[in-house]
Amino acid sequence: MIYKIENVPKLEGKIAIGGSKNAALSIVVGAILCKDIVILKNIPDITDIHDLIEILNYIHCRVTYQNFTLTIDARQIEYKDLRIQQIKKLRASYYFMGAFLSLFEKVEIYKPGGCNFGKRPIDIHLNGFEKMGAIINETENDVCMTCPNHLKSQQITLSFPSVGATINLILASILIKKTTVLRNVATEPEIVDFVQFLKAMGANIDGEGTKTIIIRKIKQLHGCSYTIMPDRIECGTYLIYGAALAKKLTLTNIISRQVRSLLSIFIEMGVDIDIKQDQITIYETKHLKPVKIVTGPFPSFPTDLQQIICPLLLKADGQSMIIDTIYSKRISHIEELKKLNANVKIVDNCMLISKSNDLKGNIVTCNDLRGGAGMLLACLMAKGKSYLMNTQWIERGYQNIIHNLKLLGASIERCDENEIL
Ligand code: EPZ
Repeated sequence: MIYKIENVPKLEGKIAIGGSKNAALSIVVGAILCKDIVILKNIPDITDIHDLIEILNYIHCRVTYQNFTLTIDARQIEYKDLRIQQIKKLRASYYFMGAFLSLFEKVEIYKPGGCNFGKRPIDIHLNGFEKMGAIINETENDVCMTCPNHLKSQQITLSFPSVGATINLILASILIKKTTVLRNVATEPEIVDFVQFLKAMGANIDGEGTKTIIIRKIKQLHGCSYTIMPDRIECGTYLIYGAALAKKLTLTNIISRQVRSLLSIFIEMGVDIDIKQDQITIYETKHLKPVKIVTGPFPSFPTDLQQIICPLLLKADGQSMIIDTIYSKRISHIEELKKLNANVKIVDNCMLISKSNDLKGNIVTCNDLRGGAGMLLACLMAKGKSYLMNTQWIERGYQNIIHNLKLLGASIERCDENEIL
């Protein structure tokens, strides 16, 4: 899929942020633990969600999705071997490990797919499952687990506050008849949203948002209706687009405190911004100061936004630096930015970004979801016409992005290859 993008004078207008991709993906899988009807609202219309729905249908869950509302009925759910291609389409498919261990005390599944920025091991997940009594047979492509003596409640300390491992181990613990304690867990807002959803289904959990989560036994889960939190990474994405190109841009349906690490960078850069609890307005800012950004687990600057803020830093008066401590190989956008005449380079795992006044349109490529969102911004900033290839990566995580950007005045269209040749 290709986007044709032309330089815009300025973006202006208002955008309502959609539901959180990363919260929705874990919550959709969590819903299959419940032998009742679960209604999920504010589910974003993105390909990752549709890929997950395919998997739910495969295991005989009845699913409907309309007007951003997903209704899931898992009362007829069946155990299936999950070594199927759909599993490889997204990273979040690995949540079926924890869910199937809870439901069936066994799972056969391909290793997950998702963005490729270096090794993305799942050892923290598997170490936790093993400690809970799972017998694991892992190969290069798949993982098979059984629990001959049933899953046992445990006290588990994660070696790193992994978002996915935190969620997976909660999924595996939720139906165990004794108390499980997870330490050194992730504290991201998506974890809090996921646990609050489980509580809406009757789960007995404490500590979400802190470093220790306690999961106590329950009689059974019941159906519920739950609204997913706004997407803080989509919010951050449009805030960065606004800081780079807006005359005036207002974002609504947001939770400002969830993007406070980005907002503090904006304040350091001198971005003209008006912050309310659930709405932010960005104004055109003539001079931006360079900054040093180091990513880390929440509440540090999120790795998911470093590829997107990179093009904005090309406007700063000096040299900025980005160090991604979560994924040191999350650098696919750097070579693509150079094709637009950007002054960027990598020295010892440090991205160095220098003022570049003369970005020129070109043919460039998305290599992953957030790198693609960053390249889309760079193409909007570049003079002349650009063609952005492999934009299906972007549509994995951003709903209506072309519609939203056109509303703000951007010149962006889907096109096919013969337009470029
Ligand atoms: C989640 O991925 C998000 N994906 C990612 O967003 C996000 O970048 C990441 O958290 C960090 O915030 C979803 O929620 C679907 P991790 P996840 O486990 O769970 C290492 C996006 O753009 N690690 O917190 O896979 C890992 O290599 C995506 O929306 C292990 O070593 O991230 C990384 O260095 C991209 N062993 C660090 O921990 C493990 O078993 C953080 O990974 C697990 C992780």
